[in-house]
Amino acid sequence: MLAGIVKETALRERRVAATPDSVKRLLAMGFEVHVEPDAGAAAGYPDTAYVEAGAEIDPEAAGAADLVLSVQMPAIERLKRGALLAGLLAPFGDGDGRAALAEAGVEGFAMELMPRITRAQTMDALSSQSNLAGYAAVIRAADLFGRAFPMMVTAAGTIAPARVLVLGAGVAGLQAIATARRLGAVVSAMDVRPAAREQVESLGASFVEVDHREPSMAEDEGGYAREMGEDYRREQADKLAETLARTNVVVTTAQIPGRPAPRLLSAEMVRAMPPGSVVVDIAVAQGGNCELSRADRIVEEAGVLIVGDSDLPSRVAQDASALYARNLVNFTELLVDKDRGELAPDYDDPIVSATALSPKEASDG
Ligand code: NAI
Repeated sequence: MLAGIVKETALRERRVAATPDSVKRLLAMGFEVHVEPDAGAAAGYPDTAYVEAGAEIDPEAAGAADLVLSVQMPAIERLKRGALLAGLLAPFGDGDGRAALAEAGVEGFAMELMPRITRAQTMDALSSQSNLAGYAAVIRAADLFGRAFPMMVTAAGTIAPARVLVLGAGVAGLQAIATARRLGAVVSAMDVRPAAREQVESLGASFVEVDHREPSMAEDEGGYAREMGEDYRREQADKLAETLARTNVVVTTAQIPGRPAPRLLSAEMVRAMPPGSVVVDIAVAQGGNCELSRADRIVEEAGVLIVGDSDLPSRVAQDASALYARNLVNFTELLVDKDRGELAPDYDDPIVSATALSPKEASDG
């Protein structure tokens, strides 16, 4: 069994799908591991570290591999027929990736489709990457904000703490809250899921309540949010407008799987924020929570900066890669028949069948 680690080619992508540590685990599983040159260089893992771990540096790693591990979708035409591919394959798009994989005879496993069950937690790449995105968003905001986050009492006078509002208190949002709190900001947060309140408050932030609740429909069976109705959205907008007038930094993280991100901040709301404020829109790749966000740009509107970084996890690429590589290795265990030492995905396993882009019947496998 040959595992191939690709060098990512997408602009601003600095993560890598394997680290020297994860290579060791793949070797222990019975794989030979080939890594494309400089695959980990941008994440702080030089080729020599992979060689020391027991891998081979190979420009043809992707084409030769039986199992290809990637961060984003690699060039499918380079992969060999019959290969398996695991990565963040963007399965919610128009299906192009799926069709191209099927045509190339490659079986793709999209890590985004990982079910949110306890057994899959160690493989949950969306969570591991969102967590770091939440952290990186606050660091980015703190860097661009022309003021300090903590309250400071000095001989020259007192500096008021920054007021941070986090929209969407899921994995990214909770880490954003924790990070902003550690920096000394006064933090509040909003979420449609009633369960979020307790988590927000346990981190020392206040929960901004929208009176018109639709608790029965706010959350689906998988723990994700649903799209809210018109009444809720109107009340949420009123509540937001009120809160924004005294907010300096907004981090938005609200997403609905497979759907465009909900629009929470209008241009008018942004203009009502104090000049010098910063908005970081983590949902920008899904269309953004702010009307003014543009991917990979900083837009200025009435003295407010709106940051649309789509590469937040890549800004902490070494940690993001380490966690992602562990997610992938844990998942790879399910693709291998250890007794026979060969790749044999068990399509009866709900984790395998949920992530497979062209699910097979168990009897096929
Ligand atoms: P996400 O990235 O899909 O969305 C981020 C947050 O935005 C969510 O909390 C969502 O409720 C919120 N949101 C959506 N629409 C909104 C709107 N219109 N206004 C305000 N907020 C809105 O979600 P994420 O972070 O991936 O996780 C969602 C839930 O799943 C959380 O409760 C998390 O703890 C849980 N989870 C469970 C796991 C498990 O294995 N059991 C693993 C990871 C997360």
